[in-house]
Amino acid sequence: MTQTPPTPARSPRTAGGEWWRTAVIYQVYPRSFADSDGDGVGDLPGITARLDHLAELGVDAVWLSPFYTSPQADAGYDVADYTDVDPLFGSLADADALVARAHELGLRVVVDLVPNHTSDEHAWFREALAAGPGSPERAVYLFRDGKGAHGELPPTDWVSVFGGPAWERVTEPDGTPGQWYLHLFDTKQPDLDWSNPVVRERLEGVLRFWLDRGVDGFRVDVAHGLTKDPAFPDWSHPVSPLRVSADGTRAPMWDRDDVHEIYRSWRRILDSYEGDRVLVAEAWVAPAERLAAYVRPDEMHQAFNFEYLETPWSAAQVRDVVTRTTAANTAVGAPTTWVLSNHDVVRHASRLGLPVGTPRPNGITADDPQPDEALGQARGRAATLLMLALPGSAYVYQGEELGLPEHTTMPADVRQDPTFARTGGAEAGRDGCRVPLPWTHDAPGYGFGPSRRTWLPQPESYARYALDVQRGVPSSTYELYRSALRLRAELGLAPAELAWAEAPGAGARDDVLAFTTGPDGGVLVVTVFGEEPLPLPSGAEVLLASADPVTAADGVRALPGSATAWLRP
Ligand code: GLC
Repeated sequence: MTQTPPTPARSPRTAGGEWWRTAVIYQVYPRSFADSDGDGVGDLPGITARLDHLAELGVDAVWLSPFYTSPQADAGYDVADYTDVDPLFGSLADADALVARAHELGLRVVVDLVPNHTSDEHAWFREALAAGPGSPERAVYLFRDGKGAHGELPPTDWVSVFGGPAWERVTEPDGTPGQWYLHLFDTKQPDLDWSNPVVRERLEGVLRFWLDRGVDGFRVDVAHGLTKDPAFPDWSHPVSPLRVSADGTRAPMWDRDDVHEIYRSWRRILDSYEGDRVLVAEAWVAPAERLAAYVRPDEMHQAFNFEYLETPWSAAQVRDVVTRTTAANTAVGAPTTWVLSNHDVVRHASRLGLPVGTPRPNGITADDPQPDEALGQARGRAATLLMLALPGSAYVYQGEELGLPEHTTMPADVRQDPTFARTGGAEAGRDGCRVPLPWTHDAPGYGFGPSRRTWLPQPESYARYALDVQRGVPSSTYELYRSALRLRAELGLAPAELAWAEAPGAGARDDVLAFTTGPDGGVLVVTVFGEEPLPLPSGAEVLLASADPVTAADGVRALPGSATAWLRP
């Protein structure tokens, strides 16, 4: 592997205030990034040792999924101690070393905060169980008496996001069947009661703990779920939070107006610290105006645009979602935060290889229709180049810079996402996008760590996607990301305004999207969604393209189908 010196990531653009408005933030999923000790699970020292890779790639910041003390029932999103590191991932000293090294490299560090629920192994929950009904300890969570003559029925009909009922009955300290507690996710993830000031105070302490250690912000897990309708009405609709029920009724557990007060209070805490620290909402909320409410000037800074992530591969639909969501954010003075992949969704290089119009699957198994790998690669690269040209900030999920596909044939017996078990295998779940990264094509475990162990199996195709076979190869996806990040900064695309344009030579084609951007509107971005090549204007300079232009029979250069180009017309 040739060593190119890391390029300092903190450009003048991001050195000053409000860096988050234009930043590209790289999501590290600690279990699967790099393993330093050979146990098959990634860890903090593994990440620190590979931070040069991120500096070289050219991102501005890193977001780390949870690495806190946890029984790992939901891969760390079940936190048993918010202020310590799970031994699986290292120690607090390792976390400090990671933050220090990142800052040395000019990378900011955003950590995950999971405030909706704790692990059932958190001391607070153990205390709640031991203290019994009516106690202040129980009031930290959402315990309720059951319905039915003997309280044998759950308090409401709510279902868990992971499948099955959202309530679990406990056995009281005296051995009798007792109250029920709410868990919107796994039974091992009891929901906290955010109407209780004690909960607020405790989580504010957690914020301060990490701010004091120098982190640059928090990605807030399930930000739309913290407050619940105190009347606890039944809710017979499906839980899918991005969708409002057909009659417009809002769910009693998602996106309630009173959740915003929490973020206003957190914003005050962040603002009391030096530096430009950020809050990022993971909020599966629609329509765009409801999501934009989370990024009002006195609340959070960013909110993932999941509606964009969910948009089918269609010029008209992408144009529509970009227009609507940008307008909604602009109305509150916030940037739009683009995202195509993360640890919860099928990787976009595979998702886009499914027939257009396929509903976004929750994982793919060997029994499902398989994505078209080559088409997914082409569209994935095109989608990335389109996203990175849009005004605002963007998130990149580890491995997408390698074009990594989803693991779509993982055997059932190795799957670990609770969704798989809780739906009786009806939903494959998210393991396929969480597979340990391939760094070296011919090393055991593709260089993930010093042993051949990996907590999830890697598909053989990962040899072709390993970093070492892509580095320095101009046509590789890795070099495409690198060039795109460098040019995005150089051309000033992220702070610019977008204007939809007529694609030259596209005529009446409805599968082509074009816009101008850059400080002087001098960059033309064109995406061909269909298969038909698009002739390029003669004399146009191709600044970057996701696929090499082809020369048609008449000698005219054309952009192939399923491709994006950044042009200087
Ligand atoms: C968020 C996380 C997801 C987790 C869930 C429960 O959606 O991204 O991975 O399972 O919250 O914490």
